[in-house]
Amino acid sequence: MEGNETTLQTMSPANDPASRAQVWAREVTARIRSKMAWVSEKNRDKIPYTTDENGSYDDRSDPERSWRIDDGLNWWTNGFWGGMMWLLYQDTKQESYARIARISEERMDRCFSDFYGLHHDVGFMFVPTAVADYRLTGNPSSRKRALHAANLLAGRFNPAGRFIRAWNDLEDGDTRGWAIIDCMFNLSLLYWAWEETHDPRFRHIAMMHADTVMQHFIRPDGSVNHIVEFDPETGEMVKALGGQGYGEGSSWSRGQGWALYGFMISYIHTGKQEYLDTAKKVAHYCMACIPENGLIPVDFRQPAQPAYEDSCGACVIAGGLLELAAHVPAPEQSIYRNAALRILRAIDEKRADWTENCDAIVLNCSASYHADRHHFTMTYADYFFIEAIYKLTGTGRLLW
Ligand code: GLY
Repeated sequence: MEGNETTLQTMSPANDPASRAQVWAREVTARIRSKMAWVSEKNRDKIPYTTDENGSYDDRSDPERSWRIDDGLNWWTNGFWGGMMWLLYQDTKQESYARIARISEERMDRCFSDFYGLHHDVGFMFVPTAVADYRLTGNPSSRKRALHAANLLAGRFNPAGRFIRAWNDLEDGDTRGWAIIDCMFNLSLLYWAWEETHDPRFRHIAMMHADTVMQHFIRPDGSVNHIVEFDPETGEMVKALGGQGYGEGSSWSRGQGWALYGFMISYIHTGKQEYLDTAKKVAHYCMACIPENGLIPVDFRQPAQPAYEDSCGACVIAGGLLELAAHVPAPEQSIYRNAALRILRAIDEKRADWTENCDAIVLNCSASYHADRHHFTMTYADYFFIEAIYKLTGTGRLLW
């Protein structure tokens, strides 16, 4: 009898894995609400990227910081602070979050006159700000900003190679033929512009770029190249570069996330089956690489030591897995959802700061393997962590 009771208790709906995940996600949501309430007010006039030694956010919109043309206001992550505010706005319905989001959106107007410092990352910058504002409130100024940004992105398309050029020339090199995996996320700006204007040029460019990425970036085992160089005249592939990962032929984990989640975005907007299949292929590779402790390394093929982590890449991968789970039949869903949960729970248990000592939540992010600095905070890690938790609770709409 006792045994039966135990079995019944174990099987009760409130105790099954899906229900436990819901309870956990709701607990995390409560912590997000309480932390973001003071973080948003404390930093309302900033566009933060990372925290300093005191745990306080910096301000990328501070004119004193603009030591490079693509830094300062043109810094590629500047959309994520506003994006976080829109995530919280969708959850709490508090107007204060919309007001704070618009401070950065309006401030970023200056990027358009200083457009020499804008790269393909206008998607990362203007989708979570202007597009989000327009989608959620119908703000006509936001529509104008977002269409302007979409036209800048479309203008970077190289028809010979059918790719979107990533960066402007670096101080030490010619990047006319460079495309990078991160751009899979920027495509969402083009899909939005197509859906908004019904001008198929935007969709053609996005899909041609995604097709090129399927052909030249995704390896047979589901790992991905970060950078591929094409001949900008003929469009022929020249070589693949290691970029922010460990080296050539390695597997930069955040790049894996941009590919997985990015192909899901392309699938969601176009319904093209190959994009879903590609997202699955990248997902299976990523899932096989998740370490026992659930903490994601900067590169899945880096040496065991130093054990550099990237919690930001972890959150992007988790977001992609959850989006995949939402678009496959029921029997497959739990595979992707459980993998995402492993990653997110590891962040919550081991790499999250819920105190008032730090403005950021997610710790141990790394911009790239060979950088001098590792294991710091990044606003976009917080963005993707919060977004993933809201995916679990079904809160709000997809901003991408
Ligand atoms: N998009 C550049 C990065 O992920 O660091």
